Amino acid sequence: MPLKVGIIGLRGIGNVHAQAHKADPLSNLVAVCDIVKERADAAAKKYGVRAYYNLTDMLRNEDLDIVDVATGGYENGSWHFEPTMEALEAGKHVLVEKPISNDINEARQMVAKAAEKQLYLGVNLNHYFTPTADRADEYIAKGQVGELVYCLHKVGFNGSEAAYQPNTNWRWWGFPYAHMKAFLTHPFSVMRHFCGDITHVQAFVERPSFRKKAGDAMLSINGINVKFANGGIGYLLSQRGDAPFGLGGWWSVEVSGTRGAFCIENCIEKVTFWEGPDPTRAANPGAMTMGMAAVTDVLDTGIKDFNATFALRIHAFLEDVTNGVPRDQLRASGRDGLAALEYTWAAMESYEQGGALVRPHPLPILHGTPGATPD
Ligand SMILES: NC(=O)c1ccc[n+]([C@@H]2O[C@H](COP(=O)([O-])OP(=O)(O)OC[C@H]3O[C@@H](n4cnc5c(N)ncnc54)[C@H](O)[C@@H]3O)[C@@H](O)[C@H]2O)c1
Repeated sequence: MPLKVGIIGLRGIGNVHAQAHKADPLSNLVAVCDIVKERADAAAKKYGVRAYYNLTDMLRNEDLDIVDVATGGYENGSWHFEPTMEALEAGKHVLVEKPISNDINEARQMVAKAAEKQLYLGVNLNHYFTPTADRADEYIAKGQVGELVYCLHKVGFNGSEAAYQPNTNWRWWGFPYAHMKAFLTHPFSVMRHFCGDITHVQAFVERPSFRKKAGDAMLSINGINVKFANGGIGYLLSQRGDAPFGLGGWWSVEVSGTRGAFCIENCIEKVTFWEGPDPTRAANPGAMTMGMAAVTDVLDTGIKDFNATFALRIHAFLEDVTNGVPRDQLRASGRDGLAALEYTWAAMESYEQGGALVRPHPLPILHGTPGATPD
C-alpha cells in the first residue's frame, strides 16, 4: 500500500518533491500545505490533492503516514524546526529538507524527538542517492579501495568577479554563515557517507574583495581540513560562485585508499575508478612514472541535471519506511543530517578562533532497535 504523504512548503523545492511523490508507486500524495494560500491552491490543483494553509489543519484532517517538510527560511533552514516537531509530535514520519536546521540546538532537538517518538526522521541529503555514488559504494564494499588514505571534495557554484550579483534576498543578505549553514551539509554528508565520522575540523574561511566592496557579509570561500575516525584525512573546498568550476563540474569527490581510488565528477554524471599499481611495478618504484595509474572502470551516466537526485532520494526514504527498516539503518537519517551540521558548526568555530583545531560535538548515541540486533 502506498504511503499517504502531505507536503508542507510549496514553492520551488516543494514542487520538485511533489512531482517525485506523484511519480513514485510507493507514495500517495494526498495533501499540500502552504501558509501562502495561492501557492497551496495552485499545487493542489496541479497534483489533484487537497490544499491546507497550516499544518495543524492538515494533520487533523488527513490520516498521513509521512509529512514532507520543504519549507526554507533564513539561511534556508529556519522554517524546518516547528513543522518537523509538530509532525513528529502528531506521530508522523518526517522527511525534511536540508540543512536539518540553521540552528544546531534545534537540530539536536529534532533528532531527539524522532528517537523519543520512535519515528523515522529523514533528511534530504540527495547528493549521494545517485548511480555514481552507488557504483562508488560497490568499490568500497568489494574492498577495491582498501584502507582510506585521503578524501578530496571540491564543490562550487560556477562564477566570477564579473558575473557576481549580490544575493539581496532576505534569507541570505547580511548572514555571514549563510553559505556554510545552507550548503556545507551536502559535501560533508557525501564525505561522511564514503569515509565515516569526522573527528577533527580546521577551517580557513574568506570572501573575495568584490563581495567585501559590495557589503556582502557572506563567507563564501571555505577551505576545511578534516580527520576521519578511521585515520584517513580529508579536505573540503567550497565556494559560492566566486570562481569558475575548474575540473569536475559542480562538485567532485576523490576518495583514495591503499588499493584503489575513485572520483565522482559533477555529482550524478560520472565516476572513474583507478586500481593501485600491481606488485611488480610497486617493487620497482622507478617504473611508476607519473600518470600510469590504470583506469579500470568508468561509469558515465550522461545525466547532467542535478534535479534527478530528488526523486531517487525520496524513493529511498519511501522504501525504508515501507520496509520498516530498523530506525538506526534509515538512509540519510536525522542523525546523519545532524552530523553534517555539527561539522559545519565546528568549521565556524574554527574560523572564529582564527583557524584552530576543533572537535565536533559528539552525535547522539545509537541504541539500535530491540529485536533487530543479532543474538
Ligand atoms: N536538497 C537540495 O538539493 C536542495 C536544493 C535547493 C533547496 N533545498 C532546500 O529546500 C528548502 C526549500 O527551498 P525553497 O527555495 O523552495 O524555499 P522557499 O522559502 O522559496 O519556499 C518555502 C515555502 O514554504 C512555505 N512555508 C514556510 N513555513 C511554512 C509553514 N510553517 N507552513 C506552511 N508553509 C510554510 C512558504 O510560504 C514558501 O512558500 C530549503 O530548506 C532549501 O535549503 C534543497
